[in-house]
Amino acid sequence: MDIKNLMVTGGCGFIGSNFIDHLFAKPDFQGRIVNVDKLTYAGNPENLRGIDIKYPGRYIFVKADICDAGLMQEIFDRYDIDAICHFAAESHVDRSIKRPESFIHTNIIGTFNLLEIAKVNQEKFQIFHHISTDEVYGSLGPEGLFTEETPYRPNSPYSASKAASDHLLRAYHETFGLPTTLSNCSNNYGPYQFPEKLIPLVIMNAVEGKPLPVYGDGKNVRDWLYVTDHCEAIWIIMQSGKRGETYNIGGNSEMENIVIVEMICDLLDEMLPLAGKRSRRELITFVKDRPGHDRRYAIDFTKLHRTLGWSPGESFPTGLRKTIRWYLDHTSWIERIKTGEYQQWIKEHYGEG
Ligand code: NAD
Ligand code: TYD
Repeated sequence: MDIKNLMVTGGCGFIGSNFIDHLFAKPDFQGRIVNVDKLTYAGNPENLRGIDIKYPGRYIFVKADICDAGLMQEIFDRYDIDAICHFAAESHVDRSIKRPESFIHTNIIGTFNLLEIAKVNQEKFQIFHHISTDEVYGSLGPEGLFTEETPYRPNSPYSASKAASDHLLRAYHETFGLPTTLSNCSNNYGPYQFPEKLIPLVIMNAVEGKPLPVYGDGKNVRDWLYVTDHCEAIWIIMQSGKRGETYNIGGNSEMENIVIVEMICDLLDEMLPLAGKRSRRELITFVKDRPGHDRRYAIDFTKLHRTLGWSPGESFPTGLRKTIRWYLDHTSWIERIKTGEYQQWIKEHYGEG
């Protein structure tokens, strides 16, 4: 496969910006990336500062909403797009519980727009890769793993909107022969994650000595994957995955939330001790549970491993240490997110809460 003009949607978000950085560093990608991002509160062009200089002529940024079908068609034509890697989404479960509207627009209508445009321009089109989540499968009991055969049972407005987009992708392959691949991945962590998600939120609060909110009894389980492992899996699937297929991606790293929060406390106590050597575990605060909170996610990625040879490279303890180091070294990035335009945007669109 020789992609010439790859449209990456949501490339200023957490995983999208890591993916662009990761892909440009690969010798087997020599094409151009057109990053289409609306720059919501979660989109931060600063994540890719200097990328256009590092890779001259190969990076284009367009501020645009994937819900604007006319504009998407224009971008498609202007840049002669021959592949899409689709990250753009509203991505936070708690926000979807408070205000689901934008999840329905971006995650469903936005994905539909892109699929339609790819369908209409199919003769020159190589691949539509859609990034999705393991949350579409619902919640597991204490045993078992999600496979690609697990029935969809989404429980939050976020996961329901992602499930809808996955179904549309499948339909466009089955009905129109669109060359698609789909990946359903577990929880990611690493640099540039917006501090509304568990790991960066706890790191930032713990650095500042603020309470560390743990929902419910803290025993909900997620399967954690370091973000660059996810990026590598996506690229492998885009290149060699069978068209029309789904691949699960996971970290082999099931952890209870409370264990993660304690690990962050202990690592920070070592890397940045508090005055008087107080333990940050004292900051842990159990709070009211999230409504409909899925108990456990865990991924079986045998298919991806057996057929395409991928497995995660980073272990959770080393990945977590690296992530904490990154947040400690990027205090100005954090400051800008906490103040100014991003906060203003959140207030305008989501109110204070
Ligand atoms: P993120 O919230 O950090 O970034 C989302 C990006 O999409 C932002 O840059 C935002 O500005 C952009 N965006 C939002 N609405 C848009 C619109 N209408 N038009 C154009 N751009 C828009 O999200 P993330 O954590 O990087 O997740 C990326 C993708 O991966 C999502 O599809 C998400 O469902 C999926 N995913 C995330 C995880 C995870 O743990 N973060 C796990 C599995 C799958
Ligand atoms: P999150 O990072 O929001 O990802 P997701 O809901 O997509 O899995 O949450 C990860 C887990 O951490 C989830 O079980 C909810 C829990 N959680 C807390 O206990 N406290 C928090 O402040 C947040 C944001 C999440």
